[in-house]
Amino acid sequence: MSEPLRAVRWTGDALRLIDQTALPDRLEHVEIRDVDALVDAVRRLVVRGAPALGVTGAYGVAVAMLQARREGWGRPALEAAIDRIRAARPTAVNLAVGVDRVRPLVDAGLPAVLAEAERVLHEDVAANRAIGAHGADWILARVSRRPLRVLTHCNTGALATAGWGTALGVIRELHARGALEVVYVDETRPLLQGSRLTAWELAHEGVPHLVQADGAAPSTIVRGLADVAVIGADRIAANGDVANKIGSLGVALACAHAGVPFVVAAPRSTVDPATATGADIPIELRDEAEVLAWEGVRTAPARTRGFNPAFDVTPAELVTALVTETGVLEVARGQVPGGVPPGT
Ligand code: MRU
Repeated sequence: MSEPLRAVRWTGDALRLIDQTALPDRLEHVEIRDVDALVDAVRRLVVRGAPALGVTGAYGVAVAMLQARREGWGRPALEAAIDRIRAARPTAVNLAVGVDRVRPLVDAGLPAVLAEAERVLHEDVAANRAIGAHGADWILARVSRRPLRVLTHCNTGALATAGWGTALGVIRELHARGALEVVYVDETRPLLQGSRLTAWELAHEGVPHLVQADGAAPSTIVRGLADVAVIGADRIAANGDVANKIGSLGVALACAHAGVPFVVAAPRSTVDPATATGADIPIELRDEAEVLAWEGVRTAPARTRGFNPAFDVTPAELVTALVTETGVLEVARGQVPGGVPPGT
């Protein structure tokens, strides 16, 4: 890829998003200038992935301020609009963290808000690079097979972050070090972030990969075809429990059964000290149509109802290692009693 992929960026007067619903067929952008359009884009997964949502939330405050100025809103209307952005999706804590970083600067004016939002973006790119290096170091030290066969779930690449990627950043780093044989990419039902987005990013990078059905992942692991699983996170509770895309728990259980390391890669901004355990993480329940139909065509019988939780929670004891920009915690070995320590 010649230019770095930027899922979220500020143009000067609008928020420019890669429309991830159009990938892999078309690389298109949308420009967002009002809060309704922003909330709709977040809910429809035009922009998605916890760190990318954090940057979106930060710039979203600027979108709301510009709209307030244009339309003559008072302060209560502006605050209500910012609250709507903050609550557009419930599980990925980064969205609220991004909004909360810049919100105190509203009184300081738009340039101050934009400068802080830009800092959120640049810090995430730097965090991703550090996560990639720490994760690759840890895996190469703990897993002896060469070259490595890595399994991943959902999309955690440049599209899901401010750039580069979390779990996919680790995988890109392993590839750059010449240590990677293949990536098993779970297709990630029901919206196929794995086959549409992760495979698209890996194809552009020239990283060897195979898309598999989510239901194949436990078998791939137990058959000894994967040496390590690396996934991202949408929220990590203080006790180390990890919320991530639905299907992650099955990967973790299979890894525990097979003795394969289950590695979670995420920035510190995804660790939520205010959430004590995984049981306290709100799990987004999405439209049943996502599991009952495909591209608008009903696949389930007419009167069948759907159940569509978008995330699951993997208990801390199944997480072999948690990689952040500040290092690696061996969670399953009990390195989080009393909570994921600050600055780890
Ligand atoms: O596509 P989403 O926003 O519903 O999915 C969230 C994610 O992207 C993942 O769960 C991902 O694995 C962690 S965020 C990099």
